[in-house]
Amino acid sequence: MANTRTGPEAFSLEGRLAVVTGASRGVGQATAVAFCRAGARVALLDVLDMDETVEQIKSLGGEADAYRVDVSDRSAVQDAVRGAAGGAGRIDVLVTAAAIYGDTTGIDDLDEAELERVLGVNLKGTLWCVQAVLPRMREHGGNIVCIGSLAGKIGGVLAGPAYVASKGGIHAIVKWVAKAEAANKIYANAIAPGAIDTQMIAGKGYQSNNLPLKRFAQPEEIASAALFLASPASSYVTGTVMDVNGGFFMG
Ligand SMILES: NC(=O)c1ccc[n+]([C@@H]2O[C@H](COP(=O)([O-])OP(=O)(O)OC[C@H]3O[C@@H](n4cnc5c(N)ncnc54)[C@H](O)[C@@H]3O)[C@@H](O)[C@H]2O)c1
Repeated sequence: MANTRTGPEAFSLEGRLAVVTGASRGVGQATAVAFCRAGARVALLDVLDMDETVEQIKSLGGEADAYRVDVSDRSAVQDAVRGAAGGAGRIDVLVTAAAIYGDTTGIDDLDEAELERVLGVNLKGTLWCVQAVLPRMREHGGNIVCIGSLAGKIGGVLAGPAYVASKGGIHAIVKWVAKAEAANKIYANAIAPGAIDTQMIAGKGYQSNNLPLKRFAQPEEIASAALFLASPASSYVTGTVMDVNGGFFMG
């Protein structure tokens, strides 16, 4: 539905249920906390424990349920989403932040197991989550935000080909979903962040001094973009890949 509000209430997620993957730490954690502050009830998915995220949300007076799942496992994702929705209930928002960087940064040493591992979590994992939530959004609409990467747009800075391919694939998935589901008022967008100060890139040789802002993004700065794309404020935005890279790449 068209949003005609322009104040802070346009960014409210009051009364909404949001599923956030990769919620143990980093961008997923910051997004879950930001959504809680915006009024959402959140369901957290990760392979790691999410105690810290749950604690942060509870200390804000919010509600969070944690589901320990590997997003590349289709039936585990379906079970978690069913649990989050309380059976056949609705889901309003999905943010997919779960991903791995992979151990291979060149192509010569890329083997099948590594390719399948990276595509399995990043690409298949995103698709399984999208597939699981769509039937729970179709009656009333919803917002899907997939975390892609600048690497998927420019071929990577230091990341390897499997990671880059997975992120380019995520950008394509949101465009497909945006077209296929627009009639159901389901919005699908991606965010393509540049380097973010999280464990994913720690010790991997990324430098901030060549960036226009001379610093990496903080996870909360990606969470803010996710909040815009998850909220009524973005009611005419779908099928986009939003650059959040501090001016490093202007596509
Ligand atoms: N850090 C960066 O510089 C950067 C840049 C661009 C895009 N991104 C993207 O941002 C998103 C968040 O990454 P981050 O920087 O917060 O990294 P992170 O490593 O801190 O967080 C990733 C989270 O995903 C979880 N995860 C990994 N495999 C999983 C699986 N199979 N099932 C469920 N959960 C799994 C991890 O446990 C972790 O909590 C990712 O999609 C990443 O590709 C990161």
